[in-house]
Amino acid sequence: MQGMSLARFLIEQQRGAAALPAELRLLIETVARACKTIGHAVSKGALGEVLGSLDKENVQGEVQKKLDVIANELLLDANEWGGHLAAMASEEMATIHRIPHRYPKGECLLLFDPIDGSSNIDVCLSVGTIFSVLKAPADAAGREIAEEDFLQAGSNQVAAGYAIYGPQPLLVLSVGSGVYEFTLDREIGSWRLTDGPIRIPAGTPEFAINMARRRQWSDAVVRFVDDRVAGETGPCGREFTMRWTGSMVADVHRILKRGGTFCYPTDVRTGGARLRLTYEANPMSYLIEQAGGASIDGARRILDIVPTGLHQRVGLMLGDADEIAMLRETA
Ligand code: AHG
Ligand code: MN
Ligand code: MN
Repeated sequence: MQGMSLARFLIEQQRGAAALPAELRLLIETVARACKTIGHAVSKGALGEVLGSLDKENVQGEVQKKLDVIANELLLDANEWGGHLAAMASEEMATIHRIPHRYPKGECLLLFDPIDGSSNIDVCLSVGTIFSVLKAPADAAGREIAEEDFLQAGSNQVAAGYAIYGPQPLLVLSVGSGVYEFTLDREIGSWRLTDGPIRIPAGTPEFAINMARRRQWSDAVVRFVDDRVAGETGPCGREFTMRWTGSMVADVHRILKRGGTFCYPTDVRTGGARLRLTYEANPMSYLIEQAGGASIDGARRILDIVPTGLHQRVGLMLGDADEIAMLRETA
């Protein structure tokens, strides 16, 4: 299987037990192609005049980076005309983007975070693109897609994945039968299978959390981190190390390959959270579960949460299933 092209991998998924629908295969190939273009723009950096911010904010009140907008446009343009989608939603758009009437429509809904880790763009650290795929509800046939059609529990996802624009350009995806990694062969322009099915290594002594937000953590999170910081002399009886990249794609990828946990918990003082449920937490939780891990908001399984808004934020704790079980608060 190693070295197999993404195109062949998807055809085999279509013919095999996963019975991948042709529409979904086309969607993933299209997203993967767009990610090649985004990765190319990212790699040009200052020479391509793609670094820096724009003088505007997105719907979440965050200042948009030039690449946030460039990547959003590339994903919209690539996915509009293929006939595989009913509508799209993105971190960078206030509401959904319906497929224009001049194009045929499909049954899939695509959600994405065009650039995850935007704060890292200008300092040459890894950023990525996260995507999630849902089916439009059966009763949506023959009517306009509405924002409510996107408000489905993450367990309804039919595919999810991310690209990382790092030392190597990578694409990691699942269509519900394991997690697979593809590396871009730049000379040939083809994504080629380099790992999978990926299983999260157990017992890795690493955790990822923004320590500067300690005052916002629940007692359970404080205890979890303190126990690990105590190392050999604490209840875990072994040394741990901490990693935090500021790009969830990079942190989640490290966990898939090397193990450990990632936490961006709810702020117990305000009830607020940082990460978005529908296009960040859901796709990453789908991949983590497909690789044998667990993902919760503190008490609930992320994939069971029915969203109430497109840009809803959620506490997120994911990774090694045994470690996440230790973190679970009694609701
Ligand atoms: P985005 O760039 O799409 O807004 O997401 C950034 C997220 C996530 O990638 C990362 O884990 C987290 O924000 C970093 O937050 P801090 O800046 O608090 O470290
Ligand atoms: Mn993000
Ligand atoms: Mn983003």
